[in-house]
Amino acid sequence: MTIANAEFIKALPKAELHLHIEGSLEPELMLSLAEKNGITLPYATLADIEAAYHFDDLQSFLDLYYLGAGVLIDEQDFYDLMWRYMLRCKAENIVHTEMMFDPQTHTDRGVSFATVLNGFCRAMDDAKEQWGQSSYLIMCFLRHLSEEDAIETLQLALPFKNRIKAVGLDSSEVGHPPEKFQRVFKMAADAGFLRVAHAGEEGPAQYIHDAIALLDVQRIDHGVRCVDDEVLVARLAASRMPLTVCPLSNVRLCVYDSMTEHPILDLLSQGVCVTVNSDDPSYFGGYLCENFEALAQALDMTQGQAIDLCRNSFEASFLDTVDKNRFTAMLANG
Ligand code: ADE
Ligand code: ZN
Repeated sequence: MTIANAEFIKALPKAELHLHIEGSLEPELMLSLAEKNGITLPYATLADIEAAYHFDDLQSFLDLYYLGAGVLIDEQDFYDLMWRYMLRCKAENIVHTEMMFDPQTHTDRGVSFATVLNGFCRAMDDAKEQWGQSSYLIMCFLRHLSEEDAIETLQLALPFKNRIKAVGLDSSEVGHPPEKFQRVFKMAADAGFLRVAHAGEEGPAQYIHDAIALLDVQRIDHGVRCVDDEVLVARLAASRMPLTVCPLSNVRLCVYDSMTEHPILDLLSQGVCVTVNSDDPSYFGGYLCENFEALAQALDMTQGQAIDLCRNSFEASFLDTVDKNRFTAMLANG
């Protein structure tokens, strides 16, 4: 029962399924884009940014996250943001990634949908060509905005349908239940998009039930509040409904007081298809490997558990069966 160390974790082939690309905007790039684009931020230095990144809850983070995303203006900015994360995937052996983006954060500021998508896709295509990086995009609707706004966003996405694998639901959870977005998720399903939703991060276990029943999702993002409902945990395990869990995020947003309280390994042992992800790494203090390392340090995660979590990441991905099997075999062959 060897505890997984950093070297072991890095060498494992991994899929990351819950990463907001805007949440990978590092302070250095934020400051340089602000200067280039003539945008005034409430921070002058890296130290100011670091001092500001202390959060009490999800909303206190989201306020700074939307502010930071405001420095992204032209196609090259979106390319540069994506390219940096593509390089990170290569460095951390993330062989496949399914990344969320929030188009409304940009279109509401007058940046066109095409500017966002073209920048992202050019970087994803370069990474595919240069080292075979596998990646998909998930377009999220902001749940603090109306369903009508989400429907308009879905319509903007239709010309880019072949570049967007799924739709998702993110932003402020409590008070914005899954039922608010039932119609747009049905429209997205009819248009051929797969579906995911944040549920049970700060919101109750009932939102997890509702995302499954009303939005017909293939995965739940976060979902950790399922532990409040034993019947739900048993149901998630039996159905192998994946949870894209984000350990460092949960601690930084005060879902748990410390990593030692995190339930991910208990859920794994109960047969739930839990996966490890970084959510918004530049805000929460770590990319994917650092999330695994935090579990090893706080919860004595073994090598076997780390392998199981990576196997789950391929099972839970939207890859076709051939690619799932190919990546899973890489895991088995070390
Ligand atoms: N947007 C970016 N990160 C998020 C999170 N952890 N929860 C909800 N919305 C988000
Ligand atoms: Zn998230």
